[in-house]
Amino acid sequence: MKLIFKYLKPYALIVVAIILFTILQVQTELSLPEYMSKIVSNGIQYGGIEEKVPTVISADDMNDILLFASESDKNKILQGFELIGKGSTINIDKQELILDKDVYLYKSDEISDLLEMPLVYTYLARANNISLSDDINNIKKTLDEKLVSLQDNHESLIRVFIKDLYTNIGIKTDNIQNSYILRTGLVMLLIAAIGVVVQLCGTYLSSKTAAKIAATMRKDVFEKVESFSSSEFSKFSTSSLITRTGNDVTKIQQLIQMMLRMMLMAPIMGTSAVARVLRYPNISWLLIVAIGIMVVTMIVLVIFAIPKFEVVQKLTDRINSIMREFLDGMLVIRAFNSQEVEEEKFDDVNSEFKRTELFVSNLMNIIGPIMTFVMNGLTVAITWFAAKQIDIDAMTIGDMMAFSQYAMHVVMSFMFVTMLFFMIPRSLVSVRRIKEILDTENTIVDKDNPELLPEENGELVFDNVSFKYPGAQESVLENINFIAKPGQTLAFIGSTGSGKSTIIKLIPRLFDVTSGSISYCGKDIRDVSQKQLHDKIGYASQQALLFTGDIKSNIEFGRELSKQELDEAIRISQSENIILEKQDGINEQISQGGTNVSGGQKQRLSIARALAQKKNIYIFDDCFSALDYETDKKLRKSLNELIEKTKATVIIVAQRIATIKNADKIFVLDEGKIVGEGSHSELLKNCDVYKQIAYSQLSKEELA
Ligand SMILES: Nc1ncnc2c1ncn2[C@@H]1O[C@H](COP(=O)(O)OP(=O)(O)OP(=O)(O)O)[C@@H](O)[C@H]1O
Ligand SMILES: [Mg+2]
Repeated sequence: MKLIFKYLKPYALIVVAIILFTILQVQTELSLPEYMSKIVSNGIQYGGIEEKVPTVISADDMNDILLFASESDKNKILQGFELIGKGSTINIDKQELILDKDVYLYKSDEISDLLEMPLVYTYLARANNISLSDDINNIKKTLDEKLVSLQDNHESLIRVFIKDLYTNIGIKTDNIQNSYILRTGLVMLLIAAIGVVVQLCGTYLSSKTAAKIAATMRKDVFEKVESFSSSEFSKFSTSSLITRTGNDVTKIQQLIQMMLRMMLMAPIMGTSAVARVLRYPNISWLLIVAIGIMVVTMIVLVIFAIPKFEVVQKLTDRINSIMREFLDGMLVIRAFNSQEVEEEKFDDVNSEFKRTELFVSNLMNIIGPIMTFVMNGLTVAITWFAAKQIDIDAMTIGDMMAFSQYAMHVVMSFMFVTMLFFMIPRSLVSVRRIKEILDTENTIVDKDNPELLPEENGELVFDNVSFKYPGAQESVLENINFIAKPGQTLAFIGSTGSGKSTIIKLIPRLFDVTSGSISYCGKDIRDVSQKQLHDKIGYASQQALLFTGDIKSNIEFGRELSKQELDEAIRISQSENIILEKQDGINEQISQGGTNVSGGQKQRLSIARALAQKKNIYIFDDCFSALDYETDKKLRKSLNELIEKTKATVIIVAQRIATIKNADKIFVLDEGKIVGEGSHSELLKNCDVYKQIAYSQLSKEELA
């Protein structure tokens, strides 16, 4: 999680913006049910009447109403109104009205309480056809009995009455209703539109941020992997590294996007909706029950699912790795008819993957139906219990609808939160896998203040070097000593697995020595920067590697080469006829892995790459093996001319005596030890291992 926050940090401002957008979105979404409730209650139930005191009352109606007020109240009430005579024009709710009777026009705000009970009594009396000419106290008594069931809730009564009062004067109440519904509807539309815009902004920002972070993370992982030495590589398989940069980073991207949306939204929505739900204390307990059911189910599911997430990711690695090996080795597999074995290997992992994935997705799939069940149950329960409240006028239908929408929001928020519990552990597996790469300590690092190497070539000295591969039990090299002087050609020969390539890999510090030291120009190679060291070395590895791109880019390999340098490298490495033979010449495309050139051509091109810039040391690890004798000879000849000219040091590993016969010094390796050194003729005399190799390869005449 720390890792994610580290990556989120540069986007703090955007995150704040997203939070603001989210708050706005929640507010707009939550205010909609309120307006809907208004449309239903005020608009439909009460005919668009919002006021608690009628704006106008006809003189006749006022007389009836005042019957129920005490003497002192009567005066006060009348003072709150203005009497307007028949025939004048008044303006009510945008309606021009020519009065056909005297009316009272409301002007003061202080009398609404005084008017409440008289309005209620009058309404009830009329509704129950009670004549007002009887003793007013008796009437009140009868009406009070009816009032008991209303529980102090007179608002709805009064509004219905106000509508009647308006109709009596000739006001078109339908118009009031229509304009109320229209007005509120428009406000709702506007709010909904704002909600959409805000939501779009929030989603856009969060997707963008997540994508950017994923890109940065991918770059960081790539750069980190680039800095790995071989021993770090051995910790991760290639396919695992590929899964991590691809699949795992994508998972993290999804997590971040989810965090920026759901994780922010759910608590904000949840708390705001809860606050609104609490306005209806009579039925809010329903919610607690619903949430309780959900949380418990979720927790149970999560407990089952979490251990499986890691397994899924590991299996993804395995599948990738098998697939990769299968694709790389397709030709060999066909040649050996071992498709079935490979298929079985794949099937095993694949079906385990299927089982685990199925288990996890089944768990996830349960969530949906449970949610639907809880939500529907809640709706039914809300309708059931709210109906009772509506019956006693403690709630309006609009209230019930609003409550049920708020309740859904609360339930949804809780669902999101619990979903997060599901998804976060899953993504955290990916986070950990990325962190593993980023946190890997490089074993081969530059010193803080590396020493500088001189421009000109110097001696390369192996001083009592022993080497053990990381994690291996036994040393691969033991007590290797030699000195390579400028202008010299050194050769290493020995049976396979004798440690030739290992010696070579120590020179550019692909590995560090276990004991002893390697120095160049009098400086331990661990004290100079790797970049400077690599700048001095031209290296052609045992596996000739070509990269996607054309021949030219494979030789240049990111360096700026002059035409002369390029031509020279092509000439010395005997690559001219490769280029001549290709349709597009030097611009011929090389396919991935160099599958469209032959083994020998690949070797020559990678030799050209090693030679393409002036270097002090050239290393060729068994790269002449796939060349025919003629080409081998020509190549060595032009290489010798180069060394004459530049005084470079050349180190050649070879299996063929002919290739190294003319080297200044030949070292014979056997099981990691130097068992013979000297020139070809010296070794023929005093080194048995060399003699054996030589006799197996050359005729008596050649040896002579
Ligand atoms: N990355 C590695 N991790 C562990 N052991 C390794 C590694 N690379 C090579 N070895 C072991 O080190 C020994 C020497 O290997 P090396 O590649 O140096 O042999 P070589 O002389 O170049 O052989 P070849 O002529 O076949 O190229 C071998 O026994 C090999 O199994
Ligand atoms: Mg080798």
